[in-house]
Amino acid sequence: MMLCTCTWCTAQAQANAPSALQVGIWASSCMACHGPEGRAEGTGLTIGGKSAEDLFGKLMAYRSGAVKATIMHQHVKGYSEDELRRIATHFSSLK
Ligand code: HEC
Repeated sequence: MMLCTCTWCTAQAQANAPSALQVGIWASSCMACHGPEGRAEGTGLTIGGKSAEDLFGKLMAYRSGAVKATIMHQHVKGYSEDELRRIATHFSSLK
């Protein structure tokens, strides 16, 4: 990954909200298993286009351990609640 030091990125990093680009980078790590655009056809792992609240709820349940997972509990622990909300919203917007 390239380290970006341009003025725009620096300004984005200083503002509290992560840029759309940043959220897209987080989301790209999910696509290895959930497919491009969050559509892993035929696997039951499609998350693209689903309700953001539903996706967010599932991510938080994995994070708290309320829902047992084989893999996901490890992934979601790397993100804050706010970051998971943004990732959920991102996948939800992929129609
Ligand atoms: C190594 C493969 C892998 C990666 C990477 C991965 N997932 Fe998952 N995901 C799974 C598996 C497998 C499940 C089923 C639950 C389990 O066993 O962990 C799942 C389940 C889910 C579910 C619940 C789906 C449903 O309908 O019940 C959501 C939402 C989800 N993942 C989102 C994400 C997000 C967001 C990321 C990136 C931060 C991500 N996943 C990264 C493999 C992965």
